[in-house]
Amino acid sequence: MLTDKFGRTITYLRLAVIDRCNLRCTYCMPEHGLAWLNRTELMSLPEMARLCGLFAQLGVEKFRITGGEPFLRKDLLPFLQQINQLPDVREITITTNGLLTAKYIPELKKLGIRSVNLSLDSLNDDRFFQITRRRELSKVLHTLHELLAHDIQVKINTVVMGRQNMEDILPLVALTRTLPVSVRFIEEMPFNGDTFIREQPWTARQIVDYIQQHHPTLIQMHAEPHATSERYKIPGYRGDIGVIAAFTRSFCGDCNRLRLTPTGVLRTCLYQSDGINLKDSMRSGKTDLQLIELIKRAVMGKAKDGWAAEKESRLVSPTNQSMAMIGG
Ligand code: GTP
Ligand code: 5AD
Ligand code: SF4
Repeated sequence: MLTDKFGRTITYLRLAVIDRCNLRCTYCMPEHGLAWLNRTELMSLPEMARLCGLFAQLGVEKFRITGGEPFLRKDLLPFLQQINQLPDVREITITTNGLLTAKYIPELKKLGIRSVNLSLDSLNDDRFFQITRRRELSKVLHTLHELLAHDIQVKINTVVMGRQNMEDILPLVALTRTLPVSVRFIEEMPFNGDTFIREQPWTARQIVDYIQQHHPTLIQMHAEPHATSERYKIPGYRGDIGVIAAFTRSFCGDCNRLRLTPTGVLRTCLYQSDGINLKDSMRSGKTDLQLIELIKRAVMGKAKDGWAAEKESRLVSPTNQSMAMIGG
């Protein structure tokens, strides 16, 4: 079991399998000046599978595959097949932008993937374009409907950014009337791969108040342990609504997660700016036992409250790290 010195047990690994993306969301990365990683800097499929096997041995039960856009990796499906065979893995989930996802859905279903998180910040063509810098909304909507048709649970992730997409809040809420989806509104975090902060994003409180003004019957539901979102529902609607206070609330107290970047850096906290490079350790010939020792030692050093320590300084001097490298 992986436990840190504050008694928190790690059961969840977020693995970013690639830095590249086929969208350019303004809150995640700039349009130009991106230096993509070389293929040799990325972990290979056997390297990712080896580390996942070790994390599973250490008690990780849930793997979330993120990126960049995970489906840009040609070997994603074979990789999912491999981790699907690890003993004691309870859940494998994917966070995707939905552009390339649709054709893989029957395969995902066969693998037993029950839930996919779909990034979707606007239902309006022009606003979708302004946020993602690409005209691809129809593909995302097609993926949404295909996932539901295959009975895969969908959580839509919507980053709320002031004027950029506040007009989308109510149409997205309206989706939950007829579709069995969770629509989760997320506060923007300062990881846009740029040093410049745009307008003040909406807070979770503002988002809930706004929805409640238009839907006074809104009720709050019970949240799962370790969940990032508060859950709400409009009585009679098929789906539900989540609000993720990614920036104003700390998730640190009962944090059960680790992150692994596409280059194999283990980050024990979203706000950690460095971490040990497990890919380099593997390439230098470390044994499984040595890797396990490195992982355990890193987890012991997990920050108690990385968010509190970093939040203010990030606002004063924003990081130029992109979410695509951290894995969301
Ligand atoms: P599930 O609860 O399994 O659906 O996953 P999730 O909400 O952790 O994953 P997802 O990839 O859909 O992320 C949703 C939002 O939560 C993203 O904006 C993430 O960056 C954010 N998020 C995930 N983990 C953390 C965390 O440890 N701290 C903070 N502040 N935000 C997080
Ligand atoms: N702030 C909040 N959420 C973000 N995501 C990406 N960048 C940011 C950011 N700066 C979200 C995406 C994706 C999830 C993994 O992280 O919407 O769904
Ligand atoms: Fe791509 Fe997701 Fe970043 Fe958008 S937020 S650019 S979809 S990795």
